[in-house]
Amino acid sequence: PESHAMNLADTIRAIPDYPKPGITFRDITTLLGDARAFRRAVDELVQPFAGLKIAKIAGIEARGFILGGAVAHQLSAGFIPVRKKGKLPHETVSITYSLEYGTDEIEVHKDAVKRGERVLLVDDLIATGGTAEGAVNLLSGLGAEVVAACFIVDLPDLGGADKIRRLGVPVRTLVSFA
Ligand code: PRP
Ligand code: HPA
Repeated sequence: PESHAMNLADTIRAIPDYPKPGITFRDITTLLGDARAFRRAVDELVQPFAGLKIAKIAGIEARGFILGGAVAHQLSAGFIPVRKKGKLPHETVSITYSLEYGTDEIEVHKDAVKRGERVLLVDDLIATGGTAEGAVNLLSGLGAEVVAACFIVDLPDLGGADKIRRLGVPVRTLVSFA
């Protein structure tokens, strides 16, 4: 019964002024370290996708790997690491995406998905949506069907979830911090 009362939001730590003054950093390490919260978060993330024949989970480095592996296991799906540039050993495709300040680059192996394969994108948090947008474009460019994107945390004021929905990709988030 007490597990039903658990509020996932309360298991996420807020760090004031990190990494810069004025920013409140939402730290999910406290959720991950709480066995019931971690299980609950994974169960809730996958809930709409059981039975949707997801072939592969794409997890975004670094925190999307932690969740994506658990989600892949639960959905009996494969796992695709979407990595920061320079980490993958085989032939890759890469994309530059916008951050709050400046740009960065993510990449996946060219043979990570087959054309038409149904992929679910997973990360811990969506803020501006720049990272997720880059990942959706990379995977779509390889011929994947990106069925949806899911995140534990949404920062709705930054508009990322809506940005991904405008790409035609449904978005699931569990906790919102405005
Ligand atoms: C964080 C977070 C997401 C991304 C969200 O990762 O885990 O991947 O930022 O931001 P956005 O919606 O504005 O793109 P970060 O870039 O800090 O990388 P890390 O996980 O390697 O620390
Ligand atoms: N927490 C974790 N990752 C982030 C955040 C945050 O508050 N904002 C942008 N990326």
